[in-house]
Amino acid sequence: MTEHIRIAQEGGVLTLTLSRPDKKNALTNAMYGTLTRELGRAAKDPTIRVVLFEAEGDMFTAGNDIADFAAIATGAKPAETLAAHPFILALGRFPKPIVAAVQGNAVGIGLTMLLHCDAVFIAEDARLTAPFADLALVPEAASSWLLPACAGHARAYAIFALGEAIDGRTAERIGLATAALPASQVKARAKEGARTLAAKPMGALMEIKALMRDSAAVVAVIEKETERFAARLKTPEAAEAFKAFAERRKPDFSKLS
Ligand code: COA
Repeated sequence: MTEHIRIAQEGGVLTLTLSRPDKKNALTNAMYGTLTRELGRAAKDPTIRVVLFEAEGDMFTAGNDIADFAAIATGAKPAETLAAHPFILALGRFPKPIVAAVQGNAVGIGLTMLLHCDAVFIAEDARLTAPFADLALVPEAASSWLLPACAGHARAYAIFALGEAIDGRTAERIGLATAALPASQVKARAKEGARTLAAKPMGALMEIKALMRDSAAVVAVIEKETERFAARLKTPEAAEAFKAFAERRKPDFSKLS
C-alpha cells in the first residue's frame, strides 16, 4: 500500500486498488504518481501480463482531487505539478491489456480512464460523469476524441457540457463497457476476465491492442488537451468552480467571461 493505492500481483495480474474511500477515492498527485510508476513497471516486467484497476468503497473515484486543482488555480502551485498528465500518458501508451471493475460513481478521470481500458466490468447502477464545463475545464485523456467516437457527438457533448450522467447499462450498450452486472458481481467478474486474458498469448494480445488503438494519435490528442486544460485551470471561471466546491455551494459564473 502506498499513498492510498493498494498494489497486488498474482498470476500475471497486477491489481491496482484505489483506496481512499473517505474521500470517494479522489485522486491526489501522490496517487497518480504511484499509478504512473506501477504502469511503467508493468509495461516492462514480463511477469505482469494484465493490469486490473478496482476501487474500495461505494464508488470508483470522484476524479481528480479538487484541492490539487485549486492549488494551481490560485497560483499556489504551477500547472506542471498536475500529476494526472504523466498518468494519462502512461495509460495512452500502455501496451498490455487493462481491465477495470467499476462501481458507484466514476467522475472525470474516473470515466475518461475507462476509454483506455480493454475490458470494463461495471455495475448496472454505476454513474459515469465527466462534467468538465461545470468545472470550467475541458476534456482530458483523449476523451474529446475517444468518447464521441464511442458514444456519438451529442451524447458525449451532453456528458462534457451539460454534466449528464450515463449508467452502467448505457455504458455497456454504447461499447464503453464490456458487461454491466449486479454490483456484487463486478469485482469477481473483472478478476476472472483479467485471469483469462493473462493466460492468452501476450504477443498476440499486444499486437491486437496496437492495431486497434493508434497510441501515437492518442498521445497527440492528450498533448493538445493538456495544454488547454492547464490554461483553463488558471482562469477565474475555474477558480470560482473550485471555491464553490470547497464551500459546498453552486458556482456563479454569471459575472465572468
Ligand atoms: N476532490 C477532493 N475531495 C473530494 C472530491 C474531489 N474530487 N470528491 C469528494 N471529495 C470529498 C468531499 O469533499 C468529502 O470530504 P469531507 O468528508 O472531508 O467533507 C468526501 O470526499 C465525501 O464527499 P461527498 O461530496 O460528501 O460525497 P457524496 O456521496 O455526497 O458525493 C460526489 C459524491 C462524487 C458526487 C461528490 O463528492 C462530487 O461531486 N465530487 C466532486 C467530483 C468532481 O467534480 N471531480 C472532478 C472531476 S474533473
